[in-house]
Amino acid sequence: MALDQFVSALDSMLQEACASLLEVQSSEALEQLRVKYTGAKSGALKSVQKMLGSIDVKDKPAAGKKFNEVRDSIEAALADASQRLGGGSSKPVSGVSFDPTLPGLRPRLGTIHPITQTLEHLKEIMGRLGFNVTEGPEIEDQWHNFVALNIPEDHPARDPLDNFYLATAKSALPRSSGSNQVPEACLLRSQTSTVQIRVMETQPLPLRIISLGRVYRPDAPDATHFPMFHQMEGLWVDRNVTMAQLKSVLRLFATSYLGGDVSIRFRPSFFPFTEPSVEVDYWWNGQWVEFGGAGMVDPNVFHSVGIDPEAWSGFAFGLGVERLCMRRFGITDIRDLYRSDVRFLSQFAT
Ligand code: PHE
Repeated sequence: MALDQFVSALDSMLQEACASLLEVQSSEALEQLRVKYTGAKSGALKSVQKMLGSIDVKDKPAAGKKFNEVRDSIEAALADASQRLGGGSSKPVSGVSFDPTLPGLRPRLGTIHPITQTLEHLKEIMGRLGFNVTEGPEIEDQWHNFVALNIPEDHPARDPLDNFYLATAKSALPRSSGSNQVPEACLLRSQTSTVQIRVMETQPLPLRIISLGRVYRPDAPDATHFPMFHQMEGLWVDRNVTMAQLKSVLRLFATSYLGGDVSIRFRPSFFPFTEPSVEVDYWWNGQWVEFGGAGMVDPNVFHSVGIDPEAWSGFAFGLGVERLCMRRFGITDIRDLYRSDVRFLSQFAT
């Protein structure tokens, strides 16, 4: 059989089928048309398919392709007609069926992320100790992140390799300004101690605040490091605040959050914005674990915000929220907190 004969037979069949299917008015008539064209035994498509055998070998691929196109078009026209008639034919042509006895899809409810739970818990404990919650921006200027905190220009903490400086802040300065003043780069804050400055600049004394939020450092992620993490900053400024009060507050906080069996230790250390300075360790699983830093507010910091260090004293501390959270929930790898794996995170549902 010649290819053009085969093609025209298919075309006229398609035309005829489409015309009847457009006009069909009942599901019974539709079912008859379905059998007429696609019936497995003697449907029209079946008999044309048989002719394929007599097509010249070189024309076979083209003929096969044409056959598939026509078959697909007829099936689509059948599905359209079935839909138009309300899909009510006894054998649904489109193959869609609905089984009302199957269980429904249950919407999955979210749970509160363990870090958010921890932040709320810390606020609640510190609130009971009289600390008000304050927030500060995550994009900071050098004054709040360094200068006012007594961190001089040449201090290694300001190294671009240790901070996320923002290029966009620089480019915002008009090019034609004519001044040769170098615009100051902003950065993602590397510590929440920035909020100490913001609070002392704006709030009347005495003050007792905590600030919880994200900080950023370009550390390679491993089990205990992540380039973004959270800190809880605390600041108490009053007439006679002492180191003994600092230790009492941190011990009370630790026993409240971690349980009565927790011991706390201060190790001498150095921070530019506190004097004296200490590292704060908690006894955990048979070893001392560092949870943050603390100390008495350095007089230079008081000077930079216009507070008289002869009249006022204060303590400050900064604790790592992830470490507290991991200690409480028994999480051993900080990266698990930020993989967004629902199977892992939903274990901590409350
Ligand atoms: N900002 C310090 C840090 O990130 C911690 C700290 C806060 C130390 C307050 C002393 C006082 O390591």
